[in-house]
Amino acid sequence: MTILVSGGTGFIGSHTVVELLLAGYDVVVFDNFYNSKSCVCDRIKKITGRDFKFYKADMLDRAALDRIFDENKIDAVIHFAGLKAVGESVKIPLTYYYNNIAGTIVLCESMAAHGVKRIVFSSSATVYGEPDHVPMQEDFPITHATNPYGETKIVIERILADLCVSDPEWSVSCLRYFNPIGAHKSGLIGEDPMGIPNNIIPRIQKVALGEWDSITVFGTDYDTPDGTGVRDYIHVTDLAKAHIAALRRAAKVTGWETYNIGCGRGYSVFEVIDAYERASGKPIKRNIQPRRPGDIAVSYADPTRAKEVLGWEAELTIDDMCRDSYNFVINNPKGYEDTEK
Ligand code: WQD
Repeated sequence: MTILVSGGTGFIGSHTVVELLLAGYDVVVFDNFYNSKSCVCDRIKKITGRDFKFYKADMLDRAALDRIFDENKIDAVIHFAGLKAVGESVKIPLTYYYNNIAGTIVLCESMAAHGVKRIVFSSSATVYGEPDHVPMQEDFPITHATNPYGETKIVIERILADLCVSDPEWSVSCLRYFNPIGAHKSGLIGEDPMGIPNNIIPRIQKVALGEWDSITVFGTDYDTPDGTGVRDYIHVTDLAKAHIAALRRAAKVTGWETYNIGCGRGYSVFEVIDAYERASGKPIKRNIQPRRPGDIAVSYADPTRAKEVLGWEAELTIDDMCRDSYNFVINNPKGYEDTEK
């Protein structure tokens, strides 16, 4: 089987391409390198010992997508491509709505025109907004996210659901990621955010590398055991493997499905910082500050459906995540350095 991966040189995309190749799939990748680097392709090939076709393309470019489908017999698509910075989405919502939603529509139109009707979509736990209780379950009411980025995920899920109603041949699997962190155990691929990072692990890494003096702890007055925010962190390799499980399911069923992809337990900010200190052997100084606007207190998954239906569950621990994350950053202290975009 040949799988087309949109955004396949990004953080989660690249780790998923590795697992696809190791699982024996043939892979075609396209990416516009907006938030990734071309050197990732060679690193994927080095990890797996396997080759794959790559196209530099933007999902909004219908002609480019049609060429990919004309030149390759694609069986299914895993769709990662999209803008994903929560804070940025608040500043430039039109860019986020246009790129993420219109881009997905163009991709689906090109798929349908070539008879490709299986898609695994990179969704997010942000679709749950601020739920009344935890753990989050797939049948929770989806109303509004707390930011435009999350809203694009809600809208795309609904578009894909309507597509399944209009054409029962479609098979759609929406994977709602919780907090992906970590890196491939080789240290060759990992998280390499553009500019000043927003997420906690790349920010802790700046302290571990001595670039920053301390990590800001956004709020210690939440209703949690130690007062700091609680999240369901999941190793990016476990997350990548969930896509393989979803592909296997999509080959057997049609219709719209969604799955929580998380560990099913939460860790607080202080617990994550402690784990990073254990992994790196570096003291991580904490700078306590007020809550960050838009943050929710607690978020963690009920991953039962993924286990029962997909036969998938997370296996790696928070210490594995921090160890592998630190291993990537000490092997790539400046991230992916190649200048070619
Ligand atoms: C985690 C916790 C912060 C930085 C985001 C996106 C979400 C998903 C995952 C795509 C929170 C605290 C953080 C810092 C801190 N991405 N924190 N100091 O906000 O849970 O989720 O990434 O799907 O869509 O919203 O992740 O890593 O930013 O924050 O105290 O310097 O760490 O308050 O409790 P978040 P995060």
